[in-house]
Amino acid sequence: MSPRSMLVTSALPYANGQIHLGHMLEHIQSDIFVRYQRAIGNEVYYVCADDCHGTPIMLKANQLGISPEELIEQIGISHRKDFEQFFISYDNYYRTHSPENQHFSEEIYKKLKENGYITTKTIKQLYDPVKNMFLPDRFVKGTCPRCGAQDQYGDNCEVCSATYDPTELKDAYSVVSGAKPILKESLHYFFDLPKFKDFLHDYIQNSKVLSSEMANKLEEWFKQGLKDWDLSRDAPYFGFKIPDTEDKYFYVWLDAPIGYMASFKNYCDKTGVNFEEFFKEGSTKELYHFIGKDILYFHSLFWPATLKGSGHRVPTGLFVHGYVTVNGTKMSKSKGTFIQASTYLKHLKPECLRYYFASKMNNSAVDLDLALDDFVAKVNSDIVGKTVNLASRTAGFITKRFNGKLASKVYDETLQQKAASILDKVKDAYENRNYAEAIREIMTLADEANRFIAREAPWVLAKDESQNEKLHLVCTQGLNLFKAIITYLSPVLPQVYKESCEFLNSDLKFEEAGVPLLDHEINKFKPLFTRVDPKDVEAMVEESKQDLKAQNAKPQAQKKDEKKESTEGGYIPLDPEITIDDFVKLDLRVGTILEAEEVKEARKLLKLKVDLGFETRQIFAGIKSAYEATSLVGRKVIVVANLKPRQMKFGLSEGMVMAAGEGGQEIFLLNVDDGAKNGDKVH
Ligand code: 2FM
Ligand code: ZN
Repeated sequence: MSPRSMLVTSALPYANGQIHLGHMLEHIQSDIFVRYQRAIGNEVYYVCADDCHGTPIMLKANQLGISPEELIEQIGISHRKDFEQFFISYDNYYRTHSPENQHFSEEIYKKLKENGYITTKTIKQLYDPVKNMFLPDRFVKGTCPRCGAQDQYGDNCEVCSATYDPTELKDAYSVVSGAKPILKESLHYFFDLPKFKDFLHDYIQNSKVLSSEMANKLEEWFKQGLKDWDLSRDAPYFGFKIPDTEDKYFYVWLDAPIGYMASFKNYCDKTGVNFEEFFKEGSTKELYHFIGKDILYFHSLFWPATLKGSGHRVPTGLFVHGYVTVNGTKMSKSKGTFIQASTYLKHLKPECLRYYFASKMNNSAVDLDLALDDFVAKVNSDIVGKTVNLASRTAGFITKRFNGKLASKVYDETLQQKAASILDKVKDAYENRNYAEAIREIMTLADEANRFIAREAPWVLAKDESQNEKLHLVCTQGLNLFKAIITYLSPVLPQVYKESCEFLNSDLKFEEAGVPLLDHEINKFKPLFTRVDPKDVEAMVEESKQDLKAQNAKPQAQKKDEKKESTEGGYIPLDPEITIDDFVKLDLRVGTILEAEEVKEARKLLKLKVDLGFETRQIFAGIKSAYEATSLVGRKVIVVANLKPRQMKFGLSEGMVMAAGEGGQEIFLLNVDDGAKNGDKVH
């Protein structure tokens, strides 16, 4: 069979934040796939890039007092470094703010226009009259029109989960300037997605581009009906200007996936690879995108439709994964489990995470839990205990007693055949991205190999001169079983594999993993892997908490220089002045949380029973994203005790628990010092 030829991508990380372990899941997943494909002789091109455009990046640069170009340059350097240190083997890592991407974005847009897929419509949007800019939904906040919760985002309420139009928010304010937004008209450019309904439906259901789990999910979207896609944004916007317009820019999600093409084109221009063959209509080259489930809509509907509508090929496969959780819950900054790649790397080896993720990864989109105790146990047991120890317990004898030369046969042929016989199963598992299955097969072999070594005990044989030949055969076999295991694991553990090739003095071939090295000289064994110390994990978690503090401290440090524009830097502007008479209207009391449980139907809500001394209140608090219910029981809090009770969908809420922070994981309940009693008034 002639080798296959494919282009593989990971989703392009935004250029306004650091790489964290959530990103690493995807990049490790795709890298294992790519390394496997290369190892069996397929032609693979593996590209990625930073996703550079959009309002958040523009505002972040603004906040830091640098240009967006400077910001993406700095972030680009740190992203590349993180991926390299995790051994992610991109052939090209580029950026979407590039001439190639501008060229393709314009070209694709013009084709779509020529082919009648672009329409225009005047729409009304919220506009910040101070900053002179239209406000994306997440830059507008206000009071939820349904439940009355304050400080909710422009498109959905985190407290009651209602979704709405930003114009429906009460007391809306711009997160950028604090000003009250006005409604303003603007001409927008739309992509006629509904025209692609039949094509997309057939593509999703009949081309096996998605797993059936994901294809079914898409059925729901087809049932809801496809809508025109607004692909323009007004200036100011960091992006590419739409051809033949004065001040309209492509929405970041138009040029982001085109960034895959642009990164590949940039690579082709440097290496002479034929770009056209990969993207022309009807191309037989394979094209795979690894993505998270949150961006399925963009990749399964908009992206294939824009490719099709502009005369290009469509993807062969969309490989969708779930999220990373740590110790069973969402990664949390305050718990120190929102771990940046660079923080991880200061404490732990990249291959530990590669191995642990691989051992739990399959081709479904369920979330993957990084259980930190299990992580330590599994890495120590599988990599050190079962694999590297095979070599460390046998290599010394070969070096000292047999001049570093392996015997001309192994001790137990049947066992050696077993090592060879799992090849097809391991290949299938890697091909189908069922890495957990591959690891199970390989570790079953490792268990057998360890039983063999324990049974034949080379350290006992070594004491008896008459057992010299057997010692040679047993150690030769031990090393060849190690060779099989590490070769099968090579897509997961590239560095250990590389050092093993040096140690075994051979360029170990994946498809010959089970074929023994015989009459072959090896090099002196050097330790290939050391055990993970749980203290290193603790230190990483501790440092991740510090990362959070550092991030929170940054805007304050800048505040001094920004007197002129005190609302910059994401601070919510001060409310109008009040008198002491206004203040005393608030009756704040100390309380203790007696019970806390999740409200299943509400994404953000916990139901609390709070003891206020004189009575117990039921309070619904929008803090689920930051606190586990069970961790709250017994905790003292401050309650707005004279707030008019509010009837919510889930029951009556009789007060409000006070907290600071921006929302999401950044919610911090106010503490009360020891000594305060339930019911005490806060003055
Ligand atoms: O969700 C994200 O992080 C996006 N930056 C992914 C873009 S993937 C591709 F389409 F560019
Ligand atoms: Zn609400």
